[in-house]
Amino acid sequence: MSLERAVTDYQAKTPRSRQLFEEALRVMPGGNSRTTTFFDPYPFYITRGEGARIWDADGNERLDFNCNYTSLILGHANPQVVKAIQDAAVHGMSFPGPSEHEIRLAEILTTRIPGMEVVRFANSGTEATMHAVRVARAFTGRAKIAKFEGAYHGTHDWVLVSVAPDPATAGSRKRPKSVAWSSGVPPMVVKHVVTLPWNDGDACAKILEKQGADIAALIIDPLLANAGMIPGREGFLETLREVTRRLGILLIFDEVISFRIGRGGAQERFNIRPDLTTLGKIIGGGLAVGAFGGRADVMNFYDPRDGKGRINHGGTFNANPLTMAGGIATMEQLTPEAYARLDALGTRQADEGVAPEALAAHHRLEQVAVGAAGELQVHRERRVEVGARFRQHGNAGIALLRELLELKLVHVTISAAADCLLGVLALRPWRNAPPGRTGRASV
Ligand SMILES: Cc1ncc(COP(=O)(O)O)c(C=O)c1O
Repeated sequence: MSLERAVTDYQAKTPRSRQLFEEALRVMPGGNSRTTTFFDPYPFYITRGEGARIWDADGNERLDFNCNYTSLILGHANPQVVKAIQDAAVHGMSFPGPSEHEIRLAEILTTRIPGMEVVRFANSGTEATMHAVRVARAFTGRAKIAKFEGAYHGTHDWVLVSVAPDPATAGSRKRPKSVAWSSGVPPMVVKHVVTLPWNDGDACAKILEKQGADIAALIIDPLLANAGMIPGREGFLETLREVTRRLGILLIFDEVISFRIGRGGAQERFNIRPDLTTLGKIIGGGLAVGAFGGRADVMNFYDPRDGKGRINHGGTFNANPLTMAGGIATMEQLTPEAYARLDALGTRQADEGVAPEALAAHHRLEQVAVGAAGELQVHRERRVEVGARFRQHGNAGIALLRELLELKLVHVTISAAADCLLGVLALRPWRNAPPGRTGRASV
């Protein structure tokens, strides 16, 4: 099927979505509140989800490989999660004070995550990384932070740097240049963000050693999910841990995505203990959530007792009972057996190929599935690491549609995809292999 034909086909199947998009355009810039969910010619509007399937406003049924960007680890409308949220809701949506739910979710998280002695809740992964960066500055008295080229940590200014830079302005691979990823990020911010090259431990060490005295924190997504799920090479994360410890830089593991790869997240999986950890997505059962925590001596900056609190942590909906109840109901289902099942399903996906065979053959895709621990991403190219540096993130119509066809949001018949997706359950498991490429398949 040519792309043109695919567009025509898509439009023929989605007239109601088109109408809704036209209405949306009248009241929202670009008709949209979330850049990541937009694609040309218009997105389909989703009316319902159940398990691994979603339905759009025209009644089309789709398999959902995306599951709200990995946050619905149990799939859509999981009955236990729905019940927990409903039970909480009948007692009130949110209060001007704490509720027991937050203690219970905090207990679960601090028990599971090795580096999380204590935790506080927020409403998004963005808030979580913002607070983690702030407390690292407060604790160290240093102003700069370091992050990786290609890494995404949310939408506050400090992390909107070198997320997907233009190769023409991004400097050399060994010594990447910090580049604002968004209009409106002040040059002052960019100057305070040190950008590091993924998977080059020596180059990272050199950069950190040179500027270490000014750097409060290194924030890292251990799966580098945004750049295509490129796992760290053997020893890479260990090098970062050693260098940051030596230089007094706090190591923040941003586990907003990677927490789903095991009961204790990537830090347990890779046996690295960070100073701080940020969470989001799966810990809210599908509702808006974020959390940050780690070493108690660092997190004490948030302790408000006796006027001690040196960082104010407001947030009208922080730790609201609905989100906490949904999170608890999710975590309770993520048992060791559930992770074992995830493992098996992820291994199968990686080994057999992620794309339904018929679809892949149709579009002559060459698949290379990469990822740590089964958080899989399909690449078109075999030189994945090169792709990692300059993967394009434009939402231009054809490029995006191509991605859509290549399985981001698959628009194919269920029968073609069903076998491969037995496990979708929204669970993209991890594989019991050391960090590295987890599987590949060509068609
Ligand atoms: C690694 C990582 N950190 C932070 C965020 C931001 O989370 P949120 O979208 O909840 O603000 C994301 C979102 O995808 C993420 O992938």
